[in-house]
Amino acid sequence: MKFFIDTANLAQIAEANDLGVLDGVTTNPSLMMKEGISGRDNVLKHYVDICNIVDGPVSAEVISVDFAGMVKEGEQLAALHHNIVVKVPMTKDGIKAIKYFSSKGIKTNCTLVFSAGQALLAAKAGATFLSPFIGRVDDSCWDGIELISQIRLIYDNYGFNTEILAASIRTPMHIVKCAEAGADIATCPLSSILGLLKHPLTDIGLEQFIADYKKVEG
Ligand code: E4P
Repeated sequence: MKFFIDTANLAQIAEANDLGVLDGVTTNPSLMMKEGISGRDNVLKHYVDICNIVDGPVSAEVISVDFAGMVKEGEQLAALHHNIVVKVPMTKDGIKAIKYFSSKGIKTNCTLVFSAGQALLAAKAGATFLSPFIGRVDDSCWDGIELISQIRLIYDNYGFNTEILAASIRTPMHIVKCAEAGADIATCPLSSILGLLKHPLTDIGLEQFIADYKKVEG
């Protein structure tokens, strides 16, 4: 299973990268806004800054909603760095844009996915990555992990190569459940990745080992 970090915060991206377990980055316009990045030039520079930290796919989202706009923006984003993946929303124009990018060899991440039907369509269009938003599914009293299982089954039935990138992760347990359900990737806040480290018995055991070592050493 691959781990992506879901943030535009350079310090957090660097911290996750230093752990040695980071495979990529996802961003979205809200995450960019959270970091105070505004203006087209600053946004583009920020994507390059991220690419200079992590050697792996970096999702950069288009903000156009029409096919022509998505194509223009996506081509500009893809030209920034070889690791850029163009993030495209799950809409009719988005599907057409994914098909276009796929035919040009430009990698895509189909975002704002909430159903298996949408996942099927994105794979048919040739999306490189698919982002089901499991946290937001859970928030609306549906089952985000069940959605991952359903998409896994469908993709395996037909041998689709689109990678399932579980997004909108809220907790470390979401990551574990996504791994059980067969997601290819989880994109997570740093807190959820670090949360995987935690177990009280690890802390208690380590404290005991150090105390015993000190006794023997005198
Ligand atoms: C990542 O690709 C998504 O944009 C992100 O995970 C959405 O997360 P949220 O539901 O916490 O905003």
